[in-house]
Amino acid sequence: MTTAGETDHNNLPEPSEPLRTPGHGNSRVTDRVGGRVPAALPTVTFPNGLTAPALGQGTWYLGERSSSHAEELAALRTGIELGLTMIDTAEMYGEGAAERLVGEAIGGQRDEVFLVSKVLPGNASLRGTVNACKESLRRLRTDYLDLYLLHWRGSFPLSATIEAFETLAQDGLIRGWGVSNFDADDMDELLSLPGGSAVQTNQVLYNLASRGPEFDLLSRGGDRRVPLMAYSPIDHGELNRHPRVREMAQAKGISAAQLAIAWVLRLSPQACTVVKASTPAHARDNRAAADVTFSDDQLAELDSIFPPPVTAEPLRMR
Ligand SMILES: NC(=O)c1ccc[n+]([C@@H]2O[C@H](COP(=O)([O-])OP(=O)(O)OC[C@H]3O[C@@H](n4cnc5c(N)ncnc54)[C@H](OP(=O)(O)O)[C@@H]3O)[C@@H](O)[C@H]2O)c1
Repeated sequence: MTTAGETDHNNLPEPSEPLRTPGHGNSRVTDRVGGRVPAALPTVTFPNGLTAPALGQGTWYLGERSSSHAEELAALRTGIELGLTMIDTAEMYGEGAAERLVGEAIGGQRDEVFLVSKVLPGNASLRGTVNACKESLRRLRTDYLDLYLLHWRGSFPLSATIEAFETLAQDGLIRGWGVSNFDADDMDELLSLPGGSAVQTNQVLYNLASRGPEFDLLSRGGDRRVPLMAYSPIDHGELNRHPRVREMAQAKGISAAQLAIAWVLRLSPQACTVVKASTPAHARDNRAAADVTFSDDQLAELDSIFPPPVTAEPLRMR
C-alpha cells in the first residue's frame, strides 16, 4: 500500500504548461459580490458526461449535534436553493450522521442534487463496498449516488474496489465512481488497472496553504481528463484567520472565506471544490464567492504569500 506520506515522486515529469486561471485580469466581473444579481455558477463536467456545479457543499462534522440540527439543515437547504447542489458526504462523517442530515435536506428534491459519498478503506472489499453503499443510500434516503468515492487507499486491492464500483453501477446504485487522497503514483496505478480509467474524480486537499497538487496532479497532461475535487478550500477554516488573507479580502470588499474559495474556483472546470457551512449565512457567503475574480496583480500577491510548489510534494491529507 502506498500512503500519501510514502509517495515517491522521483519519476514525475515536469508540469507541461501553466495552469489555466480563468478570471485573470477579467474586468467583466467586479470584485464586490454584494447587492448584484450573481453570475451563473461555474460547472464541472466529469468524464462520463455528468455535470455539476463547480462549487459544492461539504458535510464533515455536520449532523452530529442535535442542538445545531435545525441550523445545519437550513444551511444545506439554503445552499441548494442558491445552486450549490453538489453535496459531498461520507459514511465516516459522524458515523453516518452527516449522511442522515443530507438525506433530510434533499428530501423532495433528490434529482436537483448531485450527491457524492465515500466508502471507508476498511470497507472497500468487493462485498464490503457494495454493502457500505447500500447503507449510505439508506441513510441518504435515496436509491442512487451520482459519485461514490474510495475515501483513501487502504489494504484491499484497488481491483476489488473497482469491481465493486462496477457492480454498483450496473445495478444502478451509482452513476459514477472516483477516489480521494490519491497521489500521482496512486493515480498512475489506478489508471493502469482494468476498469481503472472509469475514474471520474480524485478528491484531494487543495487550497492556498496546500498547493502541492499544482505540481503534478493538476499539471500532468495524462490526468487532465479527470477533474480534481478540492476539499477544505478554506483550509478547514484556518484561512479565515490568516492576516494577509483577511487584509486582501477586506481590500476587495469580500470575506476571507470568499477569497479562499474563489482562489480554488479559478481552476474550474479543471477542478471543482466543496466547502462546509454550518449556517445559512455562511452558505450565502460561499455561494457569492463564485462571483469573485482576481486581477493578475492580486494573483501574484497571493503567490508571494503562498508560493506555488517548485518540486513534487507528498499529497497532504486532513
Ligand atoms: N476526502 C477527504 O479526505 C476530505 C477531507 C476533508 C474534507 N473533505 C470534504 O470537504 C469539505 C470541506 O472541507 P472542510 O470542512 O474540511 O473545510 P472548509 O470547507 O475549508 O472549511 C470549513 C470551515 O470554514 C468555515 N466557513 C465556511 N464558510 C464560511 C464563511 N463564509 N465565512 C466564515 N467561515 C466559513 C466553517 O464554519 P461553519 O461550520 O461555522 O460554517 C468551518 O469552520 C468537508 O466538509 C468534506 O465534505 C473531504
